[in-house]
Amino acid sequence: MLDQLNQLRDNALQELEPIWDSAPLEAWRVKYIGRKGALAQAMEQLGALPKAERGAVGKLANEVKTALESAFAAKTGQMQQRALSESLESEPLDVTLPGRPRARGRLHPATAVMREIYRIWGDMGFQIFRTREVETDEMNFQLLNIPRFHPARDNWSTFYIADSDQRVLLRTHTSPGQIRAMRALHPNPIRVILPGMCYRYEQITARSEIQFYQVEGLAVGHNITFADLKGTLTEFARRLYGENIQTRFRADHFPFTEPSMEMDVECIICHGAGCPVCKQTGWLEILGSGMVHPDVLRNGGYDPAEWSGFAFGMGPQRIAMLKHRIDDIRYFWGNDLRFLEQF
Ligand code: PHE
Repeated sequence: MLDQLNQLRDNALQELEPIWDSAPLEAWRVKYIGRKGALAQAMEQLGALPKAERGAVGKLANEVKTALESAFAAKTGQMQQRALSESLESEPLDVTLPGRPRARGRLHPATAVMREIYRIWGDMGFQIFRTREVETDEMNFQLLNIPRFHPARDNWSTFYIADSDQRVLLRTHTSPGQIRAMRALHPNPIRVILPGMCYRYEQITARSEIQFYQVEGLAVGHNITFADLKGTLTEFARRLYGENIQTRFRADHFPFTEPSMEMDVECIICHGAGCPVCKQTGWLEILGSGMVHPDVLRNGGYDPAEWSGFAFGMGPQRIAMLKHRIDDIRYFWGNDLRFLEQF
């Protein structure tokens, strides 16, 4: 029995010697020191031995077991070492190579200008009030003094998306938010901006997209005057373009404001001298505005005898185009990385 154990050990160690792969190594382990391996089987015969021999055989069996197990562990270590040095040799690492730069995310220029506008209006006490992009004809037009077949509808070519009793459409401007804000906040005074996407069923050109952002503003209170509107808009322009920006107001018409006006800022490209961007006028239009029409106040739940207010609507992408001298509005939703990576 002792000879048998010695023999087993010698055979096992000899067989282990040339092994350098994990599959044969595992086979070797199962064969010799596995639960049903050669050594385990030899141990089972221990009980059948005469008592006098058992001690010596048991001792040797344990020694063989330890020897094989440590040979196995040593071999495993050697194999790992060998694999490591092989990979170091075959895949040399040049630590002097420059690292690969990681692509960093960035804000879309439209998002960036929206945030800048939020910040300025926020500083001036206006909260963001979000309203829906899918609107009814009533909200988008009728409650804003634009009944069906009114010629002013030509200014807002519309995507209608369902033709039921309540005609459903994609809002053509953020102004229907005025009605929603008034109805939600009544009877409190209001100072909000209503930002969001608008849609118009128009030819796409360098200057107009079918989908674009607007930021509406609405203030409702007691004794709000046209002077407040002019002062507020002038202050906004100064905060956006700088203290010394020149502005001017021009009379205009919107069915939902009375009186109405547009605000121009001095052309930030030529500073008033005249250039192709401002069509030689020296001025750029950035928003439409006016005093909230009494009918609109009433539709929002405010009595025009007690309340007054102003509203404005601006095109942030227009503002971003001027700021970054982007000459075609189609870049905004073109998903062209060559454009987007410039910001
Ligand atoms: N809604 C108008 C437009 O889309 C802009 C506007 C808003 C004008 C608020 C006056 C008051 O052209």
